[in-house]
Amino acid sequence: MRRHGGEALKTTLDTLRAMKVAKKPGVWVSCYTTPDAAIVAAAGVDAIVVGDSLALTLLGHDSTLPATMEMMELFISATRRGLTANIPLVIGDMPLGSYQPSERDAVINACRLIQAGADLVKLEGCMLGRITALAEAGIGVVAHLGLQPQMKALVGGWKVQGKTADEARRLRQDIVRVILAGAVVVLLEAVPSEVAAWISRTVVSVPLYGIGCGPHVDGQLLVMSDLIGEFRQFKSRFAKRFGNVGEAKEKAVGDFVAAVRGSTFPDTETSYAMDKEELAKLE
Ligand code: KIV
Repeated sequence: MRRHGGEALKTTLDTLRAMKVAKKPGVWVSCYTTPDAAIVAAAGVDAIVVGDSLALTLLGHDSTLPATMEMMELFISATRRGLTANIPLVIGDMPLGSYQPSERDAVINACRLIQAGADLVKLEGCMLGRITALAEAGIGVVAHLGLQPQMKALVGGWKVQGKTADEARRLRQDIVRVILAGAVVVLLEAVPSEVAAWISRTVVSVPLYGIGCGPHVDGQLLVMSDLIGEFRQFKSRFAKRFGNVGEAKEKAVGDFVAAVRGSTFPDTETSYAMDKEELAKLE
């Protein structure tokens, strides 16, 4: 656990900036619940993204689009309650419909996520007016570019972005524009490594994190249920499994079923016993 003089160590935006300067790779994880937040924090991650991916990986939808403000508030506050000793930054994802309608909506809804426990908010796309309005309201914005799952219909599904030289140039231009508009961190999703490396080399004013963008960025994000091997509906190329929790859970529940059916559970060790005298009276 990362502690400083007995005190809990809290990651801030300045921590991410300092890590960038020191070339220390940052680690982010998308997760949503109190127990997962505690585990992820104890493992030493720098930021938790309470992402709208929860609609897909936790709530059984087939995309991130059904995520609502109420869901995000619920899971951001649950995440915050899991953070006690070692406290990563909490990045609250703005769900579809919470910032697209107007700058006013963006500010009102970002304030709700901050009140639920987020330190920064994340929104998809080159939404310069929204980013500036949030920056003016004193809210730090992580701009999510590259593959933007909320716009998957427009970009042709979950597809790698910036594959041609023209697309790569446009992407870099968008990154410069969101930074000028006030974004404090950029998150890139599903971009060829060479393009991410080129952008990272030439755009240096804010930390640049990646998911599915290769190693040459300031830090990496993975989704908890991907990295522990729990989400098994599909697997993106970049979603490396560092564990197999899905199989472990299935085995544990299977063993429980077998034990009950085979009458080996519960046994005396896992049952309460009545005082013998009381039992005699009862009988
Ligand atoms: O919703 C999320 O967790 C995200 C990341 C996967 C980029 O936006």
